[in-house]
Amino acid sequence: MSSRLAQREVIPEILDDLAEDDPRAVASRRDLRRVNALMFQAGITRGLLSRHLAAPPRRLLEIGAGDGSFMLSLARRLHGHWPKVDLFLLDRQSLVTRERIAEFAALGWTVHVVEADIFAWAMDAADERFDAVTTNLFLHHFEDGPLAGLLARLAPMAPVFVATEPRRTAFPLLAARMLWAIGANDVTRHDAAVSVRAGFAGTELSGLWPASPLCRLEEGRRGLFTHAFAAVTAARPA
Ligand SMILES: C[S@@+](CC[C@H](N)C(=O)[O-])C[C@H]1O[C@@H](n2cnc3c(N)ncnc32)[C@H](O)[C@@H]1O
Repeated sequence: MSSRLAQREVIPEILDDLAEDDPRAVASRRDLRRVNALMFQAGITRGLLSRHLAAPPRRLLEIGAGDGSFMLSLARRLHGHWPKVDLFLLDRQSLVTRERIAEFAALGWTVHVVEADIFAWAMDAADERFDAVTTNLFLHHFEDGPLAGLLARLAPMAPVFVATEPRRTAFPLLAARMLWAIGANDVTRHDAAVSVRAGFAGTELSGLWPASPLCRLEEGRRGLFTHAFAAVTAARPA
């Protein structure tokens, strides 16, 4: 790993500060759908969930869910096996449209939109329980300290937690710089490179997850661009 990539470097992303309906933000969210497809993020998340969930989930939470398009691509792959899901899409911006909710409904999934800052929500939601918590291209927004605190609050909420994040190595950074080739706008090009620098390597997320003898962790590279993490907590013996 080059020395510039040896440590995480968290820099604000432009998309996070643009108004929801800013044309540059709208275009960048469209780019993000293509970036997710190029990274095979939905397939990777599907693999993690299928491997670690013992039974079809009834309650699923996605944090940093954006406009729900990533989860919809996942739901399209999974609804045959997971026919009835209460899906909670949490984001601090209000991006999930009625049309999107109807697309989930057509698959048998009921959407609950949670418009909240994840840190504020997690402080108040200690009693919430889900079958799994998922997140995609989100954890890298946060410095290690606050992220460790957030993961400690999320861990008791579900037996399975999965995250797919940018892999912090030279090739993903090069690919991020090449995004002009697919017509990505300035916001996407900036945020993609910044995301790789803030991404993860090795077992960094395992180091931030609260230690527990009941918890099994899986972490590492998936494909060319993705750093994947799963935490599976066994039920406490009665
Ligand atoms: C890079 S986008 C990823 C969206 C989605 N997961 C996807 O893959 O398409 C990051 C999302 O995190 C949201 N976000 C950033 N900081 C947040 C916070 N503190 N609490 C909740 N959402 C946040 C942003 O609004 C944005 O929708």
